[in-house]
Amino acid sequence: MRRLLFTLGLLFAVQGPGGCINDDDNPDDFDLEPLDRGPYFDISASQNVTALVGKSAILRCRVKNLGDRTVSWVRHRDIHLLTVGVDTYTSDQRFVASHFPRTEDWTLEVKYPQRRDSGIYECQISTTPPIGHSMHLSVVEPVTTVVGEPEMYINRGSTMNLTCVIRHSPEPPPAIYWTHNDDEINYDSPRGGVSVITEKGEITTSYLLVQRAQPADSGSYTCHPSNANEKTVTVHVLNGEHPAAMQHGGQLRIGNPPFVILLASLLAFLNHRH
Ligand SMILES: *[C@@H]1O[C@H](CO)[C@@H](O)[C@H](O)[C@H]1NC(C)=O
Ligand SMILES: *[C@@H]1O[C@H](CO)[C@@H](O)[C@H](O)[C@H]1NC(C)=O
Repeated sequence: MRRLLFTLGLLFAVQGPGGCINDDDNPDDFDLEPLDRGPYFDISASQNVTALVGKSAILRCRVKNLGDRTVSWVRHRDIHLLTVGVDTYTSDQRFVASHFPRTEDWTLEVKYPQRRDSGIYECQISTTPPIGHSMHLSVVEPVTTVVGEPEMYINRGSTMNLTCVIRHSPEPPPAIYWTHNDDEINYDSPRGGVSVITEKGEITTSYLLVQRAQPADSGSYTCHPSNANEKTVTVHVLNGEHPAAMQHGGQLRIGNPPFVILLASLLAFLNHRH
């Protein structure tokens, strides 16, 4: 943009005030001091945004040298004019534009965003012709899973290793806690041997480790991330009565998918032959 305005300025200088270039941006002054160069976007402060489903999303557009022009927000998907200045122009009242005096920021708030609100939004300045800056809004819904849910079978005496995975979270969950039968797990309890390891990142994983599992450790275990849904796995600590579990180094998952698929293809094959 800077280069374009500069070019317009030069053209104007060559053609003089009677020329056909209609530069809205103070044609009498070709001094390229930042203050004199017409409106432009501060790109570094006007970035893509990731927001959570249902939690207000705020897109920010920082405009320098706005002067008496107005700032509008346009949704690209349907080229819908959402706001002009601080007025909402759409019947969808979830879109609210704000400007705080003595700041250069024009914000578009999307209340109760849904996944379908994801897409490109453009902040436009009413120069002639208008100039715009586009930003991408991603509305995401974090998903929590526990490996092995809904049911897990573990041998008595082995280590119970419960793995909770949180995906699509715009930031790692600030906190994750575990409960056993609805009681928060106390890592300093006399039982001992209970620990948790959390690895935060784009995908956050929390491992709950219970050494020397006993039948009393059976029950429902729930992983509670502070910014995502909770997930429960029911753990059965087998008292040696389930020989199949012995073959799996302590952990056995019922409904092993490759086996189910194999069985299904076998049945399909047999059916086909008849
Ligand atoms: C903003 O999002 C768009 C679409 O996902 C992407 O193409 C662009 O590179 C992103 N810009 C920045 C600065 O991350
Ligand atoms: C727990 O299981 C995960 C896989 O779900 C594995 O990566 C991790 O090393 C295990 N931790 C221990 C201490 O066994």
